[in-house]
Amino acid sequence: MAAYFYHEALNRLLSEDDWLIVQDTYDPKSNFKHETLFTLTNGYMGTRGAFEQGAVPEMPGNYLAGIFNKGDGPVRELVNLPQWHGISVFANRNALRYAEEASPLNAQTCEVIRFCRILDMKQGILISESVYRDRDGHETAVGTCRFVSRHDVHRTGIRLFATPLNHEGVFGIESRIDGSAVNWNTNPKFRAKHFNLLAAEDGDSEQLYLEAVTKDEAIHIGMGSAIHGLSRIGQQTPLPTIYHKFSNEGEECAEYVEFRIGRQETVQLDKLVVTYQSLELNGGRPRDAVHRNLARYRSEGWTQELRKHTNRYAKMWQEADIQIAGSEEDNRLVRFNLFHLMSTAYSGSPAVSMAAKGLHGEGYWGHVFWDTEIFMLPFFMYTFPDLAQSLLKYRYEKLGGARENARIAGYAGAKFPWQSAASGQEEIPPFSYDEHGAAQPLWMGKIEDHVTADIAYAVCQYVAVADDPAFMLACGLELLIETARFWQSRVEYDAERRQYVILNVIGPDEFHEHVDNNAYTNAMAARNLVQAAATLTDFQARFPAEVSDLLARLDWRPDDIAEWRKIAALMYIPRDEERLLIEQFDGYFQKKDYQFTAFDALGMPVYTGNPQLAELEQTQIIKQADTVMLLLLLRGFADAATVQANYDYYEKRTWHQSSLSMGMYALMAQRLGDTEKAYDLWLRTARTDLMDRHGNAGLGLHAAATGAVWQVLIFGFGGVQPDESSGMLEIAPSLPRAWKSLSFTVQWRGYRLAVEAEPEHLHITLPEIRQGILQVKIWGRPYAWRAEHSGERISIARRREASING
Ligand code: BGC
Repeated sequence: MAAYFYHEALNRLLSEDDWLIVQDTYDPKSNFKHETLFTLTNGYMGTRGAFEQGAVPEMPGNYLAGIFNKGDGPVRELVNLPQWHGISVFANRNALRYAEEASPLNAQTCEVIRFCRILDMKQGILISESVYRDRDGHETAVGTCRFVSRHDVHRTGIRLFATPLNHEGVFGIESRIDGSAVNWNTNPKFRAKHFNLLAAEDGDSEQLYLEAVTKDEAIHIGMGSAIHGLSRIGQQTPLPTIYHKFSNEGEECAEYVEFRIGRQETVQLDKLVVTYQSLELNGGRPRDAVHRNLARYRSEGWTQELRKHTNRYAKMWQEADIQIAGSEEDNRLVRFNLFHLMSTAYSGSPAVSMAAKGLHGEGYWGHVFWDTEIFMLPFFMYTFPDLAQSLLKYRYEKLGGARENARIAGYAGAKFPWQSAASGQEEIPPFSYDEHGAAQPLWMGKIEDHVTADIAYAVCQYVAVADDPAFMLACGLELLIETARFWQSRVEYDAERRQYVILNVIGPDEFHEHVDNNAYTNAMAARNLVQAAATLTDFQARFPAEVSDLLARLDWRPDDIAEWRKIAALMYIPRDEERLLIEQFDGYFQKKDYQFTAFDALGMPVYTGNPQLAELEQTQIIKQADTVMLLLLLRGFADAATVQANYDYYEKRTWHQSSLSMGMYALMAQRLGDTEKAYDLWLRTARTDLMDRHGNAGLGLHAAATGAVWQVLIFGFGGVQPDESSGMLEIAPSLPRAWKSLSFTVQWRGYRLAVEAEPEHLHITLPEIRQGILQVKIWGRPYAWRAEHSGERISIARRREASING
């Protein structure tokens, strides 16, 4: 393995190369992007990959899931909380002896003569090292290893190594908790401070403690920290300090240690940090919880916590890893996407879900969109069903807010917000600003209604895949009923057509606002109504007492079921029958035609016209997959020829200005048998953030794209899908030429299947035995399999009979 770092101790920590994302040159222009790429999160907390030693420019971010505030900001947003990661190293011997300027080693004060930063995705650690040359010619290597613990989500930690390479003497190290954090530090228009600080205090001169309180809801966030284990590397005995102080400087508190160190001797120390917030303590102040946990953390130490943290990751990867034989680079891309996707979910609280930008940045204000249910959730359904359930519980928890949204808009039932945060009410800002600075109203919150049907769809998908009727009974059914009631009140009867219509909406393609009969919205609404009717009928028969209690609570009318079915059956879908085309909305085909033919260096379609909404909406250019989404989600909605015709038509007109788009076209290309095209689109999706293909990776992860990467792999190349008619799981892989095999694990109705797909063979292993018979359909042929012992394996040739050889 390559020796990336000067400090051997850091090289020794690293996993194999195909688990590493390496940044080997320091370029401040990429700081924002790398802060996102190198975010570490355990779902409870997310810390952007800003440098411990600071940088210019930087946009450090530290967020706790579910902690929002509006205050003076334009909108209620995920709060950028005090930063725990700061550590400065001082090696200016004169300044330390006399009261002169002491400048910390960093890229501003020094020349960076060697640099490397690595995200180790296998273990969830971020390692960073710089060799600095200061103005006296002193060279010092400073390396850190950081984690945000998955074992105890309240704990984070950094181990630091520092070595004077050509000098020696007195060194100082300062560890800080910085309460000066604001949201949007780089933009005065949006900059907002969302918390006040309670007196920063030094905890008994043994540790730092800082407590922030959010301005609107007075949520308290407490953070404690201590330097631990200061020593020469490899030595148990502590390195004697010649100075040690804790200071409270108002917005910041700091612990400073000074010691002597010889030329080429390495000093190491650990920064241990603990965070709690009052919501999880039933409103109680976090101070005691922080102090108690920090005391334990100090006695257990950084190494033990790191080990427990990496063990958790090992377990998660056991479920989530996907291996591609044939391309190390593709393997790494997959892992990058899955690493961030799986790291961001949190099962500790149904009050939180996953935001469109993860816990990786302030883009989209930390809000939750349909991205979660339609793009990310499938990964969790098939990999971590508990987390999938928790994500859906979030929507159930927010039903009150969604009912209120419906009421405000003049409808019945529940209308889920386009952008969701803590309350379930609409959180979208009223305006966005165009390039001339002019405010443009944002209509999505009012009329991008498909999110409501998307959530209902996701509930049914989850219940089918996880076989979780208990969740349906406890949460899902109410959600289905309330969303169906929304559509019941939202549709209008068009007497001329003798069909139901949905007027004035925005479909997934946001370039066309205030359209009538967006096919995606209408079809998904119809599906919502059908599924509500079917599930309610089924559950009334199976759980009569529970369902009648629920219906009494919901003040429900028995005629509703019949009406839902009628509306769904008579839902209008605009079509051009001759060309087999579904019209994206009424009048779409009358818009000016435009087809993309050129692509830029990042693989994005090039549009040569004026990209103003006012112009775009006069054209057939669409922002992202819309009708194609409908055909992907609702299999059986159209025959194969119609699907092909619509894919061909819309693909040429799609600008892919949303990262939600290309992955979906990849999935459709694969379904239509064009595996190489699917592979090309998949690769571009997988590089969304690594290549910064939308130019805004600095604002946070494109979390939906990470989910799409998984979907194309498993539903696309892996050919996994539930067969609705037979109730079997279908697996029909078809791999890109570049790959020799694709291996993955999926969970299906309580079974765990480890699948290895080769171009002509498929092997399935059942790691555990389970009662019952697994029914699968492989390359179109049904198999019933009762595993006799764990680890049993079935191998199937593409056109031959099965052979059991476990
Ligand atoms: C897309 C939406 C998406 C949102 C958040 C927008 O640009 O058009 O479909 O939900 O970004 O990712």
